[in-house]
Amino acid sequence: MIGSLKHRILRPIIINPPYSDFYRNLASKFLNIRNSFTKTELSEFEKSRVNELKEDGCFSTNIEQLNLKDQFERLSNEVLKLGFTKSGNFKDIKNEKLLEYVKTKMRENDVKGYKISLSGLISQNFIKDYTQNEKIKKIVSNYLNVNIKNTYFDILLDHNLTENKESTETQLFHRDHNGILFLKVFIYLIDVNIENGPYSYVKRTHNKKYMRKFDVKKIKIRKNYRYNNDNVYDQLKQNEMIFKGNKGTVVFSDTTGLHRGYLPQRDYYRILLSMTFEPENSFLTFTD
Ligand SMILES: [Fe+2]
Repeated sequence: MIGSLKHRILRPIIINPPYSDFYRNLASKFLNIRNSFTKTELSEFEKSRVNELKEDGCFSTNIEQLNLKDQFERLSNEVLKLGFTKSGNFKDIKNEKLLEYVKTKMRENDVKGYKISLSGLISQNFIKDYTQNEKIKKIVSNYLNVNIKNTYFDILLDHNLTENKESTETQLFHRDHNGILFLKVFIYLIDVNIENGPYSYVKRTHNKKYMRKFDVKKIKIRKNYRYNNDNVYDQLKQNEMIFKGNKGTVVFSDTTGLHRGYLPQRDYYRILLSMTFEPENSFLTFTD
């Protein structure tokens, strides 16, 4: 009851990205009332990454920088053991059972037909190292100015086997509506080139003040707002960061800014670990 009131009444009033610094500060002050966040000593690396998030809304690094090299080796081996190959192309998969699994999942998923969860195939023990990584948590909490927790993780496969024009929603620029304060972290589990459908972020678009210079129009598709890609490119092409990168590339992204996934080319796929970090106090969190 309370939950649905929160979603029906509070959500439309306060969730409307992008947010101003004033609004973000207000949110973090409010969430800190009974769960106070104390800033920790940051290394030079962590400090400059937090500043990059404030400035651009997004940055990429790699698993070595986060002390996750061994853990990553184990996880990416698991992915290869399933039968996926380094090429990121379905034609190279020899494991018939895996292909069958992918096709079954594709049929189950009618709306998000281009995205498949692989979590069911991989032991959760491989994931904990990432959701509990101290460096990741430090960067996220110092950026958001609140104590944080991991609220979501999944291993996602993006493909374009259905070639269903209707289901390309996350390939249109959009902003996430989880809340005012949250951050997403993606780790590529295979090399991602343009054919695999890289992640793309338009830098500085998480900043309300910066966005006043532009006029990008929202369109409502189903329950979500999306943006016309051409309209965004007309004004902000020079700000687009396309994250092509080897496996082990890590992207931190404030997805209240404009972002999208490129559509993989036919027969190609992308596999990444996706995580969301949100305030420990979930009063201003509106994840579906
Ligand atoms: Fe998104």
